[in-house]
Amino acid sequence: PRPRVTLHTDFRVGPVDRRLFGSFVEHLGRAVYTGIYEPGHATADEHGFRRDVADLTRELGATVLRYPGGNFVSNYRWEDGVGPVSERKPFLDLAWRTVEPNLVGTDEFLQWAEREGFEPMLAVNLGTRGVEAAAALVEYCNGEAGTRWADLRIAHGRAEPYGVHLWCLGNEMDGPWQIGHKDAHEYGRLAAEAGKAMKLVDPTVSLVVCGSSSMQMNTFGEWEQTVLSYTYDLVDHISMHAYYEELDGDRASFLGSGTAMDRFIDRVVASADAVGARRRSDKKITISFDEWNVWYLESRFPGETNLPVQRDAPRIIEDVYSALDAVVVGDLLVTLLNHADRVPVAALAQLVNVIAPIMTEPGGEAWRQPTFHPFATTARLARGEALDVRVDSPTTTTTRHGEVPLVTAAATHDPETGALALFLTNRSAEPVEVDVEHLGLGVELTEGWRMVADHEAAVEGPAHARKVVGSCWSAVDLGADVTVVTSGGTGRTRTTVAL
Ligand code: AHR
Repeated sequence: PRPRVTLHTDFRVGPVDRRLFGSFVEHLGRAVYTGIYEPGHATADEHGFRRDVADLTRELGATVLRYPGGNFVSNYRWEDGVGPVSERKPFLDLAWRTVEPNLVGTDEFLQWAEREGFEPMLAVNLGTRGVEAAAALVEYCNGEAGTRWADLRIAHGRAEPYGVHLWCLGNEMDGPWQIGHKDAHEYGRLAAEAGKAMKLVDPTVSLVVCGSSSMQMNTFGEWEQTVLSYTYDLVDHISMHAYYEELDGDRASFLGSGTAMDRFIDRVVASADAVGARRRSDKKITISFDEWNVWYLESRFPGETNLPVQRDAPRIIEDVYSALDAVVVGDLLVTLLNHADRVPVAALAQLVNVIAPIMTEPGGEAWRQPTFHPFATTARLARGEALDVRVDSPTTTTTRHGEVPLVTAAATHDPETGALALFLTNRSAEPVEVDVEHLGLGVELTEGWRMVADHEAAVEGPAHARKVVGSCWSAVDLGADVTVVTSGGTGRTRTTVAL
C-alpha cells in the first residue's frame, strides 16, 4: 500500500518558534575570518563584514546565531576581544590550536548581528573561567550606565545595552576534549552559580545548560539528570548536539538519521521530565538543539587532529556536501518540527565555511552548498503551528537504528494566512507516491519544491560544489525531499505527491 499522511489543523504539536531556524558562528577555521568578516573583500561593508555572506544568511532564513563557540569558548577571554582593535593581542586558542587575532570580538559580532537583523545567542566560558567572568560579560552586554563593565562598553563606543537574551552556560562540558572539562556535579554546581549571578545582573536573560555532547557519550542520561538537579529552577533550556554521517557505505542508516534524532530528543525530554517529576515541578525544561548537522566527523576528521599551531584562518572541517546530505538535513528538519513543543531553539552547525551551508573563497565568491536549500525552504515555509501529522509508512531495518519509516512528514499551519506547508522525505532508493489526507480542509497545491538526491554528488572543491547545487534538482535516484504548500479554497481533500 502507498504511504499515507493524515493531517488536520486541529491536531497540533505546538507553535513553531522562529528560533528553531538558528545557526552558529564559532571562532574556528574560516567561520569568522574570510567567512562573515573580510575587510578588503569587494563586498565588505564599512565594518569589514562581507555583504554577500550576510545576504546569503538572510536568504538561508537563519534567525538566531550562536557565538563565539563551540569548543573555542571554553578557553576564551572575552575581555581580549573588546576595546580598540590596535591594542588587542592575539591568543593561542587551544581548542583548535589556532592563533586567534581578536579582530572580531563581542562588540563587532553583536553590532553586525543587530545591523543584519539576527538574534545573538552568546556562550560564556565555563571551562577555564567561571562566575565572575560570566556575570561581567552579561553586564558588558546588557548593563545600564553607571557600573564598571557597562561603562567599559560605553567607553568602547556603544551607549545602548545590546539586550542579549539567550545565553549558553558553557559548551559540551561533558566532553573530555573540552578545555576545562568537568564531571556532571562539578559542572552542575558551576552552571548554577554562574547562571544565578548572570540573572542577578539581568533577570530577563534566558539560560541554556549543557546537555550531553551526543547520545553516544557514556554519561548520557545521567549527565542530564545530575546537571538539571542543580539548575532546574534557574534555566529554561538544556542543550543537545548531534552530527550524522554515512559510515561504511551504510546509506540506509544514514538516511534514517532523523529517527536517531527523534529518539535522542525523546530521551532528553524523558530525562528532564524525570527531574521535574521528582521535584513535583510544573515547569517544563525545553531543548536548545544548538548544534546539529551532517558532519563527516568519524570518517574524515581524524586526520585533522593534533595539527601544528595554525594561523590566518586555516581551512578546518570544510565539508563539501552532496545532495544526499541535503536530503538528510531536510529530514532532520522534519524531526525538529515534529518536536516543536519541546524544541524552541536550534542551530544548524555551522553557518559559513565550517560544516556549513554557505561557503566562501577569500577575496572571491560566496555560494550555497546543497544543504542550504532544505534549510532555507523549511525556514521560509514552516510558519504558525506544527501539526501532529500521522504517517502510515512501510519501514526498513537499518544496522544502526533498527526499524525506521521510509517516508517521514511534518506539517505546519499558519492560522493567520491559512497557509499549510507539508514537508516529506523519501528515505528509500525508489520513487514513492504518498497519499496526503487533509481532513476537513479544502486545500489546493500552490507551490511544490523538490529536492532529489544524486549519489554522484559527493565531490571535492568549490567549483564542483557549485555544480552540485544545480544538478541535485534533476537526478532522480536515491531519495527525495518535497515541500508542498497548500492554501484553503477548492474543497479537495486528498493530494497525491510523487517523491
Ligand atoms: O561545531 C564544531 C564543534 O563541534 C564545536 O566546536 C563543538 O561544540 C562540537 O564538538
